[in-house]
Amino acid sequence: MKVIHTIEELRDQLRGQNRVAFVPTMGNLHDGHLSLMRLARQHGDPVVASIFVNRLQFGPNEDFDSYPRTLANDIEKLERENVYVLFAPNERELYPEPQQYRVQPPADLGDILEGEFRPGFFQGVCTVVLKLFSCVQPTAAIFGKKDYQQLMVLRRMAQQFSLPINVVAAETVRAEDGLALSSRNSYLSADARAEAPRLYATLAHLSAQVAGGRRDFAALEDEAMRMLGEAGWQPDYIAVRRRHDLQRPAADENAALVVLAAARLGSTRLIDNLEIPTQ
Ligand code: PAJ
Repeated sequence: MKVIHTIEELRDQLRGQNRVAFVPTMGNLHDGHLSLMRLARQHGDPVVASIFVNRLQFGPNEDFDSYPRTLANDIEKLERENVYVLFAPNERELYPEPQQYRVQPPADLGDILEGEFRPGFFQGVCTVVLKLFSCVQPTAAIFGKKDYQQLMVLRRMAQQFSLPINVVAAETVRAEDGLALSSRNSYLSADARAEAPRLYATLAHLSAQVAGGRRDFAALEDEAMRMLGEAGWQPDYIAVRRRHDLQRPAADENAALVVLAAARLGSTRLIDNLEIPTQ
């Protein structure tokens, strides 16, 4: 694997490649990320990964400075996955001057759920991903359903800018107890790690009730929020939404549904979601 730090070198290395499958990440790689590398192989060749902790998508009180940076370990993991190029630019390479042009996602998709609790987050994500797309020029790009709204926002961005890129969704990889793998899980104390699977369990419980025929979504959301609250969590939202546009479903909705959640456990904020099985 070639580890490349500059855009110029990246373009040299990828010249003539027209089936690149791309996996953008912020590093501190776990099996969830690695599953994306494996899926990428089915959608193109060569596979290119990136590691870049993108300041633009962090709020002023968020964890940009403390975000785990583990490049040497990450390189070893990517070597084992047959990744052809790792693009790992430093901040000055990607943002040599302030990024004044930004991609603003539509409010109906970008300002709800995560966007409501993390203002500017999706603008930061879209801006860096468009920039990375322009550097790598992939034909396919793989994103995890773990960040369901991010996947939707980026898919619509690719459509609306007519980017010739196939946006591919990867299933969420979980620990045996159900907790979705996340770089931020490393912030959890032993006690918090033992409690953390409750988020998934709560989503699974709600999902089973909807699959069993309940349509009083607001009551189910309130009940799930209360259950988490009683267990010592501070939930930001638990929301049953339509999968395709993340809008609230009507009681007689026929569209496929997903339930999404974000909650803080101590000082760690976890997100997760579950596609509700269709009858
Ligand atoms: P990061 O959090 O590093 O995630 C990189 C990719 O891995 C994302 O597509 C994410 O959805 C996926 N991923 C994370 N945990 C996963 C899991 N348990 N199972 C499956 N996929 C998982 O998401 C970002 O970085 C950034 O916002 C980025 C898109 C790179 C832009 O900066």
